[in-house]
Formats: sequence, C-alpha cells, structure tokens
Amino acid sequence: MPATVIVGAQWGDEGKGKIVDLLAQESDLVCRYQGGPNAGHTIVADGATYRIRQIPSGIVAGKRSAIGAGCVVDPQVLLDELDELEARGHRTTGVVFLSGNAHLIMPWHVALDGARERRLGKLQIGTTRRGIGPAYADKATRIGIRVQDLLDPKILRQKLELAVAEKNVWLERVYDLEPFDLEDVLSRHLAYAERLAPYVADTSLLVDRALRAGERVLFEGAQGTLLDLDHGTYPFVTSSNPIAAGAAVSFGIGPNRIDEVLGVAKAYVTRVGEGPFPSEIEGPAHARVQELGREFGTVTGRERRCGWLDLVALRFAVRVNGLTALALTKLDVLSGFEEIPVCVRYRLPDGSETEELPAHQSDFHHCRPVFETLPGWGCELGEGDLPAAARAYVAFVEEALGIPVTLVGTGAARERVLALR
Ligand code: IMP
Repeated sequence: MPATVIVGAQWGDEGKGKIVDLLAQESDLVCRYQGGPNAGHTIVADGATYRIRQIPSGIVAGKRSAIGAGCVVDPQVLLDELDELEARGHRTTGVVFLSGNAHLIMPWHVALDGARERRLGKLQIGTTRRGIGPAYADKATRIGIRVQDLLDPKILRQKLELAVAEKNVWLERVYDLEPFDLEDVLSRHLAYAERLAPYVADTSLLVDRALRAGERVLFEGAQGTLLDLDHGTYPFVTSSNPIAAGAAVSFGIGPNRIDEVLGVAKAYVTRVGEGPFPSEIEGPAHARVQELGREFGTVTGRERRCGWLDLVALRFAVRVNGLTALALTKLDVLSGFEEIPVCVRYRLPDGSETEELPAHQSDFHHCRPVFETLPGWGCELGEGDLPAAARAYVAFVEEALGIPVTLVGTGAARERVLALR
C-alpha cells in the first residue's frame, strides 16, 4: 500500500527496526515521525550489525529517509550516525532529509533530564537521559531551537541568548550545575549548521509529492503505544506521540493519506523504566525470558522488565492506532517453554474482570493479570512453516484482537521473518 505506518504496539523495543528494514526493501521513502536518540534500532543485515538512533532504519536498505517535524534531534548524535553510515559505504546526502521544523536537543536538555531524574529519586520516570522531555517541553513553551534556526547565524545567536540566559538560571540556582557559555554553544552549533545544511528539507512537501507520484511511503514510529504522551501510562511515558496519528502530525499530511497501520509486538512484552506492568513475569521464568530474548536496552544498556503477552494492552493498541495488521516478533524466544501464559483479561480491585485497558490510572496500577495457558511447541523454530502449537499461539492472538498477524519473527537476522499471508 502507498502509505503505511509502523507502530510499536507495546512499551517500545518490539523489534520495529527489523520490520521497517524488511518493508523498506519495497518502499521508496521511509519517514521517522517522533522521538529522538532515545530510540535504539538494531538491524542485522548481511552479517553486519547497525545500531541506529536518529535516522530511520530504512537507510540501511539505501532508501530515502526523512526525519519529521515531530522529532527532536541531537545534532552530534545525528552527525556521528551519518559519518558512520558514510564510512560503511552508505550515501547520505540526497538520501537523508531533515525537517527544518524539528527541534534540537541542546546540551542543557541533557543536563536537565539527568538532574530532574536524580531529584525525583524513587519517583523517577526512568528516562533514557537523552534530553527528550526537556527538549519537547521547550518546544511547547516556544523557546526551543529548531533545525532551521541553525541556518541563520543572526537568528541562532538571538535564540541562543534567550535560551542560555534562562537555562543557566535553572541549572545554577535550581540544580546546582555548571552554566553554559553562550559563545561556546554558538560556535559549536555554527559548526553543526555547516554540516547539517545539506540535509535540511521541507519534509511535508517531500512526502506529499511522493504520495502524489504513487510512491510507497513508510512511516516509522519509535517507542510504543503505551509510552504515548497522551494515551500511554502517564507519567511513565515519553514526551511525544508514538501512536499512528503522530505520523500525520509530524509530516504535515492529512490523516486520510494513511492506508495501512502495522503494529509490531513481541510474542511476549518488555518494558524499560518505571511504571505499571500488569503481565510482568514473576519467578525464575523472568530471568529466562530476559536472557533468551537478550533484553538489555540498545541505548541505555538497562535491563528490560519482561512480561507474558498482554492481549488487553494489545487490544488497546489496535484501537488507538487503528491497526490493520500485526507483526509478532521474537516468537523463537518462547520456544524453550513447555507452557506459555497469555494475559487475556485484567482483574480490577473491585473483583470484576475486563478485556479493555482501564481508563483510570488507579485501576490500571492495581489490576492483576488473568492468564490463559497455551501449550509450547517444544522445538526450535526453523526456516519453514511454524509448528502446529506455534501456529495455534498466533491464531489465538488473531482471534483475540480481530486483526491478522501477517509477519512472525523467528530469529535475530533480517531474513528470520516469516510472512504468513
Ligand atoms: P524518555 O523518552 O527518555 O524521556 O523516557 C521516558 C520513558 O520512555 C522511559 O520509561 C523510557 O525507558 C521509555 N523509553 C524511551 N525510549 C524508549 C525506547 O526506545 N524503548 C523503550 N522504552 C523507551
């Protein structure tokens, strides 16, 4: 289909990079629509491993790649990534496009992210400490610095003067941290400007023209549905909108231009950072899933909390994203289990049970999972058809969600994805 959104259906880390990389082979343009270097996509292609944080993962397949207005960009991280791609033989100029409206993550955003988390102590969000929240906060309060500000030294100086003066008050008086020097920040950013200028583009027009020309455009979300600022498990969320509608907002196209929404979910669930997690595994199986799934963060190296597949949360993802199909990744991780629990309902504090994600935070925080146990398949997953019990597991998910599972991940390498239809 011409315009497809790929969205994380859980708490991030669902293996979206690999699915995007696969679908990118048949796309003309791949667009990243929110977040920044808090995302970490690992792609294994032709024996080489790529870890990508800012650029859409379609770049590995050599596809035109756009970073939308809804993203926040750390210029140093982006330039490092561009340099590495170039060094490994990927052309980036004329291939990577950066919205002039995207906001920059400034050095004080990173400093403030860490300082706030430290101050919150036990109440911390567990952010990636990449400056994401403070950058989006400045965007909303309209004192952010945008990519296009880099292109005009006079405007850049004016905006930096304002920002440095205000941020230094916070850094010094509230958090007892070192202030930033205006000239220092300015000269560093003028150097970034020179290097980033060739990539700056009107990404709304780019996508509009691509769609009018009948090209296939893939929109790539970062993080996941339950980390959405408006619809996720607030305040344990990221500061942007990973849900599918975010693609239209970030690229400045009408929502009616989107044809398909593919959710990506692991065959189990993981979550990094704090916050409620109803189907979290208790007992020794937790460490086993974590080890088999190599569940340690790409960006932070932190351990990921692991849970059994949560169909209540996935049903919510189908609703808020308008999912038309699901890709179920890492099914192979469950191969070692004789029996596999799946969370089918939540039991609320008043004893009632529900199949829908509770709208009220207290219900969600205190609900307990109701599991149904499915038989395991007792063998490794090969290259061919799935064993009958694995097929039954997939069919169970489809039946509960009312959408087809079109792709299944059976191993780490790019080619270990099975198309079911
Ligand atoms: P932030 O996005 O760094 O502000 O972090 C806010 C919350 O989102 C924290 O719970 C993070 O662990 C989580 N988060 C951010 N990016 C990712 C990701 O790519 N995968 C999983 N969790 C993430």
